[in-house]
Amino acid sequence: MSGVDLDHVDLDRLRARHGAKWRVFPGTLAAFVAEMDFPVAPPIRRVLEAAVGREDFGYPLDPRPSGLATLFAERMRERFDWEVEPRRVELLADVVQGIYLALTQFSEPGEGAIVQTPIYPPFLRALSETGRRLVENPLVEGPSGYEIDFDGLRRAIDPGTRILLLCNPHNPTGRAFRRDELEALAEIAEAHDLVVVSDEIHQDLVFAPARHLAFASLAPETEARTLTLTSGTKSFNIPGLRCAFAVFGSLELKRRFLGCPRHMRGGMTGLGIEATEAAWREGGPWLEQVLEYLRGNRELLDDFLRGELSELAWVPPEATYLAWLDCRGLELDRAPASFFREEAGVALGPGENFGTPGAGFARLTFATPRSLLREMLERMAKAVRARS
Ligand SMILES: Cc1ncc(COP(=O)(O)O)c(C=O)c1O
Repeated sequence: MSGVDLDHVDLDRLRARHGAKWRVFPGTLAAFVAEMDFPVAPPIRRVLEAAVGREDFGYPLDPRPSGLATLFAERMRERFDWEVEPRRVELLADVVQGIYLALTQFSEPGEGAIVQTPIYPPFLRALSETGRRLVENPLVEGPSGYEIDFDGLRRAIDPGTRILLLCNPHNPTGRAFRRDELEALAEIAEAHDLVVVSDEIHQDLVFAPARHLAFASLAPETEARTLTLTSGTKSFNIPGLRCAFAVFGSLELKRRFLGCPRHMRGGMTGLGIEATEAAWREGGPWLEQVLEYLRGNRELLDDFLRGELSELAWVPPEATYLAWLDCRGLELDRAPASFFREEAGVALGPGENFGTPGAGFARLTFATPRSLLREMLERMAKAVRARS
């Protein structure tokens, strides 16, 4: 198959990068940051090289008239059958920034936001750092994987709860929530007059037959209470370039959000804008190739975990390139991520950072060349065997 060589491994090159993933734990195999180790999509590389050639590092033009919001709306329509009005799209530096702003603009200190734990750690930090209250609604393990506990959710909501902070597809479990689940959430949001902040950054990374459903696309009354946050940076592995999108389901939500002055909201970089445009216009074949490869990595993981690392449990994700590993069966003397970093030289995401239900778990990023993934797993299995 033509395309980029996703199998190619050059550890020295990865380790020479200045980004956090390969720098924080030198000498280990890094699988704790949600980033891919693949060559970037050629159209992105081309526009970035051209920008370097022009030394184009000045303040970016206001991207609104550039048509970026219209391009975003076209993409949402084509991929997710979601109609977005470009005038309801605002440009941000990154998705996490959007979560912080949503909390400060849509709630008061001490008021509550619902989070389905385990969860991407910045959700929890955003709550504590802005003085908002965590209303925890842990996912439960059902026969087909992680499920939303709707009864628990109804019980957890109190009169001071203002926001439902949704992560769909869900990091770290890889759930792509079904329509009936999202509709039940929408009903609860309606009943309790909650603003829904839906982080959909993993929307492209879904394995068929699962599919992504934009929360705001469910119904007009659901859309009206929803702020959607997303970007092209996760799917195309350019998170350092800072370029994200906020979509307001109503002009009232937009007015409240933009109550925070523009310079406190930050903005995109010129390189981020160009790279996102190139990704969306021409990056489709690269994304297809990567998704197919990730599907193969998911299979490799499943086979390995059933065979040589059967003490670890997992539910293969429907979306994302994240493996949420249940290590409780190992009965380790320390947190699993510490154990595997110290004994196997593999750096995983510490489950305990993902909220209370994450204790005894670790998160592994499997968007990496297959031989490197195999080496990580072999090292982990060896460390487990060395204990007994
Ligand atoms: C669910 C989720 N939201 C947000 C982010 C980060 O997005 P950004 O870099 O745009 O803040 C990530 C990164 O892994 C993520 O998994």
